Amino acid sequence: MTTRVNSPLSPEYAAVLVERRANLRKTCAKILKPGASFVWEIGSGHGHFLTAYAALHRETTCVGIDIIAERIARAERKRHRAGLANLHFIQADADDFLAVLPEGARFSALYILFPDPWPKRRHHKNRLIRPDFIGRIAARAGQGARLYFRTDYEPYFTEARSVIAANPSWPLSEESWPFESPTVFQSRARARHSLVAIAP
Ligand SMILES: C[S@@+](CC[C@H](N)C(=O)[O-])C[C@H]1O[C@@H](n2cnc3c(N)ncnc32)[C@H](O)[C@@H]1O
Repeated sequence: MTTRVNSPLSPEYAAVLVERRANLRKTCAKILKPGASFVWEIGSGHGHFLTAYAALHRETTCVGIDIIAERIARAERKRHRAGLANLHFIQADADDFLAVLPEGARFSALYILFPDPWPKRRHHKNRLIRPDFIGRIAARAGQGARLYFRTDYEPYFTEARSVIAANPSWPLSEESWPFESPTVFQSRARARHSLVAIAP
């Protein structure tokens, strides 16, 4: 599902991508009006974190995305049981979601919790935190938006911190983590490394 490829797209894949983004654009437009503010989680998995967050922040629109349909289905069941009208889970790739966000919609906080670490060097290009991606999310961040990143894999943490620190749109902050609710991967993790960056 991911679009993170460097080679030119085949015409067939380009057509699939156009249709996928057109469908996603419609889904997003129902949830986020132009100019909307929202809290975003990329790789929301089974939805534990964002469901707990949305229950405590009922005035905040919360959107979790994940590329795996089964995880979104589980998260949706949690959302339904909790009866949270402010919470939405969408099956989507982060690049696609950014590409179709309604005009003027801005996130006030972005949580990236235990993203796939891609430990092998030849797979590092698949990591979510890359200079181009960090730049593109900055373009959709509201003033003072927070970027929260957490991983149990220290080499990825070190790399992510230097990628984020190198982008003037995301100064690192010593601010403490504002909300704790363990995710599936956090409950299995032996360590955790967290950072906060704040859009000026
Ligand atoms: C290691 S899991 C962590 C899930 C959850 N955050 C947790 O801590 O339990 C990483 C998640 O990110 C999702 N993911 C990977 N690449 C993604 C992308 N480009 N866009 C959206 N979700 C993605 C995966 O499907 C997976 O559910």
